[in-house]
Amino acid sequence: MKLYRCRICGDTYLGSEAPSHCPFCGAHRELMVEAREFPPDINAVDPTETEHADLEASIELETSNTRFYLAAARRPGNDALRSYFKRLAKVEAEHCGIFCKLLGADKPSDLMTPSESTGSWASDIQDSLKREKRATGLYHTFAERATSERLREVFAAIADVETDHIALDEEAETYL
Ligand SMILES: [Fe+2]
Ligand SMILES: [Fe+2]
Repeated sequence: MKLYRCRICGDTYLGSEAPSHCPFCGAHRELMVEAREFPPDINAVDPTETEHADLEASIELETSNTRFYLAAARRPGNDALRSYFKRLAKVEAEHCGIFCKLLGADKPSDLMTPSESTGSWASDIQDSLKREKRATGLYHTFAERATSERLREVFAAIADVETDHIALDEEAETYL
């Protein structure tokens, strides 16, 4: 067994090999490094004005998506989809925490308060697709215009995770 650490969220993983995706933030395997290779000052960034605004927009987006997924996870009747949305809520909350860390901000106080779902499983999956596509597009833009190497790394990694969620939503439809 080895101790791995995710370069994106900083959480650790114990295993004989690195997982395909970070279990906490969803970052891809190449971002899971052995703990000794994890730079202690990895999040020491000094965001420019644009990066500051992009981090704030990211926190807002992740909060909205976390709260939506928590609401969707409350609907009774389809246990598989409930657990799917519950897992997505945890991943998006983790993303929110990453952006807060980079900005040196507290997590929003309503982060874990469910907002409202759309009314049916099928329309929640459609809403989720819209959210994930929007997130993917935004994070690609933020990654392209970031001047800090660290911020580029994080935005690009999370764009990949949100892209994975688009494929997951398509898989979720088979549970309807
Ligand atoms: Fe992670
Ligand atoms: Fe996210």
